[in-house]
Amino acid sequence: MIVAAPDYAKDNAVRLASNLGCNYTLISTRYFPNGEVLARVNEVEKLRDVDRIILFFPTYPNTNDRILMLFESLEAIRHYIPGSKLELVIPYFSYSRQDKRFLDGEALTLKLIIDFISVFDISRIYIFDIHSLESFKKYAKKLDYIHISLLHKLFEYIKNIHEIDNAILVAPDEGRLNTVSDIAEKHSLDYTYLIKERDRYTGKVTMKPGEEIDFSKYNSAIILDDEISTGGTMALASSYLKKNGVDTIIAAASHLLLISGADKKLFNSGVDFLYGSNTILNPYAVLYIEDILPEYIKD
Ligand code: R5P
Repeated sequence: MIVAAPDYAKDNAVRLASNLGCNYTLISTRYFPNGEVLARVNEVEKLRDVDRIILFFPTYPNTNDRILMLFESLEAIRHYIPGSKLELVIPYFSYSRQDKRFLDGEALTLKLIIDFISVFDISRIYIFDIHSLESFKKYAKKLDYIHISLLHKLFEYIKNIHEIDNAILVAPDEGRLNTVSDIAEKHSLDYTYLIKERDRYTGKVTMKPGEEIDFSKYNSAIILDDEISTGGTMALASSYLKKNGVDTIIAAASHLLLISGADKKLFNSGVDFLYGSNTILNPYAVLYIEDILPEYIKD
């Protein structure tokens, strides 16, 4: 049985339940005048007879409220169905970018969220291109997890609709290099990376090549990243590559947050095509996680 939040995940729940051939129920939420939010699992008695509960819980947008709703939903399910096999799908793992203490005294939010989730005896968690899988593994030692690489699947999509014989794959920072090199090697394509330097105090980002390379010999560059938030990183990478002689820029990211018109920023910086998944509702999604998940859930 799928359990999902109604206001933003009903369509996902319907599609996933139909793909899995199972039922779904929803979580309703209610706000109090003092700003507190309360989650309630609808038809909770129906969960008593199922052998697997899959909680589908997007944590973006409205992140802070949704994180609380997630904990409340887990608490409610565990209260009513204490011994069930409870699996959790988090399409976009909010707070995962803070995977280390960059400045003295900062909180480590990735660890905090994992610690909270772990309290509820989760049988398995499904995550998608988390910011740093290494960090996730470090803090989620007691969690059984399945990490799904949407970037590999996005590349397959791009390969089927674009001419990529003379393309180079580009990681916009070193964090994405392993994934990009893995994809490039599988398809016998060249790859490289750019170096992004972010001033921790001002937030200003600058871009330079990670190695000496003549970009003008490539017709197109496919830039792959885990997420596009403000679009700053992708726009810098794109304009750098255009200035250095690449004709066509294809930008793809698993999670398209696209904050404050980031898509316009990207197209202005020279991006010709933009692709992503529906872990976050957006107009550029070409991959639907409800269609991808069944293969992993049935396993
Ligand atoms: C950062 O290390 C990530 O991999 C992304 O490059 C970053 O989160 C994108 O953020 P923005 O779109 O705001 O530059």
